[in-house]
Amino acid sequence: MKTRITELFGIKHPILCGGMHRLCVPKLCAAVSNAGGLGSLTASTYPAKDDFVKAIREVRKLTKKPFWCNVTMLPAVHLGEENYKNYFDAIIEENVPVVEISGMPVDRLANGEYIDRLLEADVKLVHKVGAVRHAQHAEKVGYSAVIAAGVEEGGHPLNENVATTVLTPRIAESVKIPVITTGGMATGRSLAAALCLGADGIMMASRFICTTECDVHPNVKQEIIRRQENETVLYGNTIGLQGRALLNDSIKKVIEIEDRKGGLQEILPHIAGTWGPDIWEKGNMNVGLIPVGQSIGLIKDVVSCKELLERIIKEAEEIINRVKTKL
Ligand SMILES: Cc1cc2nc3c(=O)[nH]c(=O)nc-3n(C[C@H](O)[C@H](O)[C@H](O)COP(=O)(O)O)c2cc1C
Repeated sequence: MKTRITELFGIKHPILCGGMHRLCVPKLCAAVSNAGGLGSLTASTYPAKDDFVKAIREVRKLTKKPFWCNVTMLPAVHLGEENYKNYFDAIIEENVPVVEISGMPVDRLANGEYIDRLLEADVKLVHKVGAVRHAQHAEKVGYSAVIAAGVEEGGHPLNENVATTVLTPRIAESVKIPVITTGGMATGRSLAAALCLGADGIMMASRFICTTECDVHPNVKQEIIRRQENETVLYGNTIGLQGRALLNDSIKKVIEIEDRKGGLQEILPHIAGTWGPDIWEKGNMNVGLIPVGQSIGLIKDVVSCKELLERIIKEAEEIINRVKTKL
């Protein structure tokens, strides 16, 4: 299946792994890339530049295929502008081919110094956006592609709450650069639908947690399979950063605090689990915020990245052919 995205990144399948703090480490990144997609190495997992550089080199030992690095420039307790500069320096020095940026666009960092250097170094920039105007901005300043991130997505959907089904065609008709869809993507049906909506590929994150190569506690994978599409919630509007997370004890507490306008300091302890080993390594599903998307309703098994990507392509092609014969 060739699209503008497979051509742009030199990959076999138009399927990309979205950034996941703590989970998108070299093993999973390389597994997705070796399976023919675009694997992600998420920079925020490595606050020190040296560790990030080591991780990039580790990916290169595990795969000869293209991969991308995610740099998240959202308000964060553990990262700031100096970290972002270090990440982009490392990306340029290590010749990383593609970068996924979320939050602040990179032209706003250090008065535009970094976007100029990245473009000069021929690094392809992709921005994750939740609105048409943000996609248009990314195109104007030199990004190679945009990700249309609908409100269904895990992580931090924009608080305008536009669904993938509307956001994707709106962005596709508003920019000339390729569009990748994310939020609600997990199967071959998702890929077929995304192509119909005007996208050139899909990005998934939650789906990749339930792969054999994602090193999280088995409880996490089983809980994602057990839970359905109506078991995630939006939170964070009272602290200025909306997020979507799995419905659990911690998020219920967060919502209770937000309902009475309790404030950031009171909320922080309940969302802190995401940053520690309790959830991902120990499999305790009620001790913090677990950022997953509504796509969990579509996740039914744990498979290898290769099997997953091949299955998605086969199913998408079958659906597209079936629709064609009906016309
Ligand atoms: C466990 C997890 C961690 C995430 N961490 C990040 C992150 O560090 N930076 C980021 O830009 N997006 C992050 N996201 C959002 C994803 O990259 C992606 O936009 C979103 O999850 C897509 O929706 P889906 O999970 O339903 O496929 C995370 C998502 C998950 C599930």
